[in-house]
Order: sequence, then structure tokens, then C-alpha cells
Amino acid sequence: MHILFAPRERILDALPRHRRWAEIGVFRGEFSQTILEHCEPSELHLIDPWHFDLDFDYFAPPPSSPLFPDPRGWASSIAAWTSAPDRMHINEHFDTIAQSVAQRFANDRRVTIHRAMAHLVADTFADEYFDFVYIDGAHDYANVLRDLQCYAPKVSPSGALLGDDYCEMGTFANAEYGVVGAVTHYRRLIPPTDLIVIADLFSMFGLFPAGSPLLQDALRAAGAAGPLLELPDAIAANYHQVISPDGKGGLYWFPSFA
Ligand SMILES: C[S@@+](CC[C@H](N)C(=O)[O-])C[C@H]1O[C@@H](n2cnc3c(N)ncnc32)[C@H](O)[C@@H]1O
Repeated sequence: MHILFAPRERILDALPRHRRWAEIGVFRGEFSQTILEHCEPSELHLIDPWHFDLDFDYFAPPPSSPLFPDPRGWASSIAAWTSAPDRMHINEHFDTIAQSVAQRFANDRRVTIHRAMAHLVADTFADEYFDFVYIDGAHDYANVLRDLQCYAPKVSPSGALLGDDYCEMGTFANAEYGVVGAVTHYRRLIPPTDLIVIADLFSMFGLFPAGSPLLQDALRAAGAAGPLLELPDAIAANYHQVISPDGKGGLYWFPSFA
């Protein structure tokens, strides 16, 4: 396991240009823009349903529901997180976000938008089609594991699976982040991989085939950007991020393996 303490753009800068990318979970397209600027992909497929399948009335959520144990908490936290205007249904709000993303990239022929849940469109891509797939959709354990399983076969052996929020904090779509658990589980099911964590407030992960020259090159290139730790792989499952107020209105964080 490698931990690189550097802004995530440094690892993007260290990856080869003009490759095929997918981003799962796009929201407003901010990171899509970062990929376009830093990686100059030949293709960038943006995959997001911009829609929640709610099993309750969004404007009058009940105390609990089969899909969302805490629909009231979910509705208010997701409204705050997405800046949904008062009295606008969350899916209407997501429609406007989807339209703004379509407009944002309308003139970029490298970009294709797939408005769907990622696992439902995985098989529209040939195996090994992508060089890089960046997973940042639903963050609960089951969905992250499913996205890893659906998209790993779609990544070329000379590429990598990347993803956001290799940490266990926050809530999104009614679930504690399950990224660390899903990545750990997934690695036990497949041939050996090298894990890199690009550590910041919401760390990013990269899974490369063991011994991948691509990772070695990227580590050499990005290593100059910040401290690089190499740790025994066995402790990757215990990666936690401790986040605390810094006393000046901000946050500081550090990794912990306790
Ligand atoms: C954290 S945001 C993505 C942020 C974006 N990657 C960025 O860094 O700017 C999560 C997004 O995932 C989407 N999402 C949720 N479930 C998904 C799924 N199963 N497949 C694809 N996208 C999903 C949500 O609609 C939301 O827009």
C-alpha cells in the first residue's frame, strides 16, 4: 500500500494523456473538468442517473422507509448537500443539474453522457475498453462493491480503477461511506493489486495490477509532489481518517490505522 500526501491533481498529472476515461458519479461535472484539463482524455464517459429512486413522498418523508431508514434526515441532508432550493423536488433539482452538465460539455466531442446508474450501463462497454474508471457514485459498501465488480472487467490491464472518498466519514444517499470496506473486500476476490491512496480530506484510491509499470511511473512522477509512504498491505483494511477542527474554523486530518 502506498500513501501519497499530495493534491489529487498530482496523480492525475502523473498518468498518461489521451486515454479513455469514465467517471461514475458526476454531479455538477467539477471533477470531469479536472480530468479533461489534467489528463486530456481521448474519450470521457460521464455516468450518473441524476435521479434518486425514492420510496417515499419527498416533501413529506415518513420517519422510516424500506430503502431509506431515515428518510427525513436523508431529505434534509441531501437537500443541503446539493443546494436544492426550498420546495423544489430533489429529482427536479437533479434534472436542472443534469441539463447544466450537458450544456457545460456540449462543445467537447470527447465527452459522452450516460444518464443511468453505473451498473446498468456497464455492459454497453466492451471489456477492457477504458484505461481509467473513476468511481464516485453512491458511496455505500454495496454500491461501491458493485461498481468495482461491474467496471473492473472494462478496464485494460495497462490501466487502473480509481475512486473517491477512501475514508469512512460522512453520509451520502443515506449510507455511511463504505469505500474502504468495499475496496478491501474486492481486493480479496481478484488477482493481486497495488493500492495507492492519495491522501487528503476525502482521500482518493487507485487500484493497479500488481507490479504495474504505470503505477511505478506515476509514483516516480508524483513522488516529487509530496511525501510518499509505503506500508504493509495487510493494514490497508484498517485505514481511517481522523478529522478534527483546527481551532481556526477549518479542519485538519491525519490517517490512522488503529
Ligand atoms: C459525490 S457526487 C460526484 C462528484 C463528482 N465526481 C465530482 O467530484 O465533482 C455523487 C454523484 O453520484 C451519483 N450517483 C449515485 N448513485 C449512482 C450510481 N449508481 N451510478 C452512477 N452515479 C451515481 C449521484 O447522482 C451524484 O451526482
